[in-house]
Amino acid sequence: MNIKPIILRGILDSLPVGLMVIDPEEEIININRAASEILGYPLYVFEGKGWGDLFFDDEKNIDFNQIIIDIIRERKVNLQRSVSYVRSDGKILQLSITGSFLREGEEIAGIVVLINDVTELHKAHKREKIVLEEKSALHHERAESIKNLAEAVAHQIRNPVTAIGGFSMRMLNQLDQDDPNRGYLGAILDGTKRLEDVVTAVGHYTKLLQIEPKKVAISEVLQKAQVGLSPKEAELSRKIKWTVRSEPIKAMIDPRLFTHALNELFLNALEFCREDEVSIEMCVFEEANRVHVEIQDSGAGISEEDRPYIFDPFFTTKAVGVGMGLCRVKRIISEHKGVIMIESTPGKGTEVRIRLPQE
Ligand SMILES: Nc1ncnc2c1ncn2[C@@H]1O[C@H](COP(=O)(O)OP(=O)(O)OP(=O)(O)O)[C@@H](O)[C@H]1O
Ligand SMILES: [Mg+2]
Repeated sequence: MNIKPIILRGILDSLPVGLMVIDPEEEIININRAASEILGYPLYVFEGKGWGDLFFDDEKNIDFNQIIIDIIRERKVNLQRSVSYVRSDGKILQLSITGSFLREGEEIAGIVVLINDVTELHKAHKREKIVLEEKSALHHERAESIKNLAEAVAHQIRNPVTAIGGFSMRMLNQLDQDDPNRGYLGAILDGTKRLEDVVTAVGHYTKLLQIEPKKVAISEVLQKAQVGLSPKEAELSRKIKWTVRSEPIKAMIDPRLFTHALNELFLNALEFCREDEVSIEMCVFEEANRVHVEIQDSGAGISEEDRPYIFDPFFTTKAVGVGMGLCRVKRIISEHKGVIMIESTPGKGTEVRIRLPQE
């Protein structure tokens, strides 16, 4: 089909993207209005000119020129690069260039170059990056100061608690079996044990702030978390019936911390079950550029009143428990830029849903 030159000119000039065609001798044989505006020369300047005449001498645009050189030399098709370009009026632009080498049989027919001015988009990305970096630095600073405070408080509590516990134990050992003070000392010892557990839990929590993500198969982490639960099954004389459906997915996660999080969730399913056997159904899949990890147990479920508090530090319904498990899990997931949701039906079971971003 032959298109009249005037119609072709009209089509090219109406394109919102810059287009330039260069022949094998590097002469610019076609350029549209958008390209001339972006490059900062009136259309007539290009007439009968070679690419080299107009651009090659300019040291500032070395990256821009290199694209043409690379397309010719490497005979590239759809070479895409983002480069900065300094216009003759001094304005610095960010251009997205796509260039292709055109063939006519064995012959070089020319090069077609598409030019997009992405300066504003580039600036917006840069601004966004700066804001994100500032936010992340602020977050890091806050996390560091919380960590330092928590470590200092834990350190201050640990020493007196150890002394109180140690001396109480010595006194208890010296009392007769029927001494009425034994009960008081027993209560002091229980209290110190609880304080020690709290200090240890706070210590673990502050360590979660240093994550080291790597590309890991979720199934590996899952297996480790399952194996880690066996001693607890034996200790509680309970059994877990596993059903696992997992796609072979790799994700950027800290394997140690993620295993810990899964372990904590499985432990809850085991500890809050109604019978000697609990079923845990686990499903891992990828959807909408996210990794989904879903865990459903057949345990006791969580009551309506307790639900708002389960992620709070030190919230527990166990007779002897610290209540830091889910708080730690939430922290680990949010350090991975993911989210966790828990839904539960009392008497039926609990469902945990985790979503992680996939690059
Ligand atoms: N799978 C579950 N089934 C039923 N209740 C749950 C489940 N997971 C959490 N809960 C409820 O949420 C509370 C908080 O859980 P979390 O793991 O934070 O603390 P914990 O298990 O009580 O103590 P810790 O984990 O520190 O030993 C639990 O005490 C329990 O009431
Ligand atoms: Mg727990």
